Amino acid sequence: MMLQGKVAIVTGAAQGIGRAIAEALARDGADVAVVDLDVARAQETAQAVSSQGRRALVIKANVAEWADVAAMADRVLAELGRIDILVNNAGITRDGLLLRMKEEDWNAVLDVNLKGTFHCTKAVLPAMTKQRSGALVNIASVVGVMGNAGQANYAASKAAVIGLTKTVAREYASRGITVNAVAPGFIGTAMTDKLSGEVRAALLTQIPLGRLGTPDDVAAAVRFLVSPAAAYITGHVLHVNGGMIMV
Ligand SMILES: NC(=O)c1ccc[n+]([C@@H]2O[C@H](COP(=O)([O-])OP(=O)(O)OC[C@H]3O[C@@H](n4cnc5c(N)ncnc54)[C@H](O)[C@@H]3O)[C@@H](O)[C@H]2O)c1
Repeated sequence: MMLQGKVAIVTGAAQGIGRAIAEALARDGADVAVVDLDVARAQETAQAVSSQGRRALVIKANVAEWADVAAMADRVLAELGRIDILVNNAGITRDGLLLRMKEEDWNAVLDVNLKGTFHCTKAVLPAMTKQRSGALVNIASVVGVMGNAGQANYAASKAAVIGLTKTVAREYASRGITVNAVAPGFIGTAMTDKLSGEVRAALLTQIPLGRLGTPDDVAAAVRFLVSPAAAYITGHVLHVNGGMIMV
């Protein structure tokens, strides 16, 4: 119960990695705002949070839209009373080789993955600054460090999220706020279900631990970074990738 009395916001928490993070933080005692575009699935996450005896608040918001995000943060403060933790997890892919990539695919991915992270960070920092404590975790990707053919937009967005993480970590360290990133490798979720059997088999040969990760593998890293045990860690990128890259 190391997060007892704390309030966490998890974006993209309706399914996949975000849902596993919301559930893990609730198990540690946090109340959770479940933020997503998909309200029906977000309700299922909220039920899982409530079943741990924690308060859950479902908020429909598009992280790419500042007005949605500002209203989301106001609601969390009004209904849950404070904001201690933000996990910027909402993310999308629109894959294609660069010459075939449409500008709208570039913009859609950058708007959600990068601008969404900027918006949510900006929306919670005033409350965290006032209370002189807070923990932010941004979900990046192994692809943001190593690149990946067919994912120029996605890889650029995730590399940028790492730069944003380190900058906000430097700007807000003096206020007692830590900012870290988790960079998952290939994790079994709806996002990777789209991969063909052939691509999946090729991927597995690059993963020393010999399997795709699970959402719980990623949630465990987030849980650590927002815990008191990680109080002296900021600006770090924690890789959760089965050894796929070792940096
Ligand atoms: N699955 C992987 O292998 C993998 C690897 C590395 C990084 N990641 C990252 O982890 C995060 C979660 O991925 P996942 O695999 O669970 O994906 P997912 O597609 O299963 O879930 C993403 C969730 O984000 C929500 N979402 C999408 N756009 C949104 C928006 N504009 N506003 C609010 N919510 C929005 C979706 O509705 C969905 O519930 C993403 O940032 C992704 O880039 C995933």
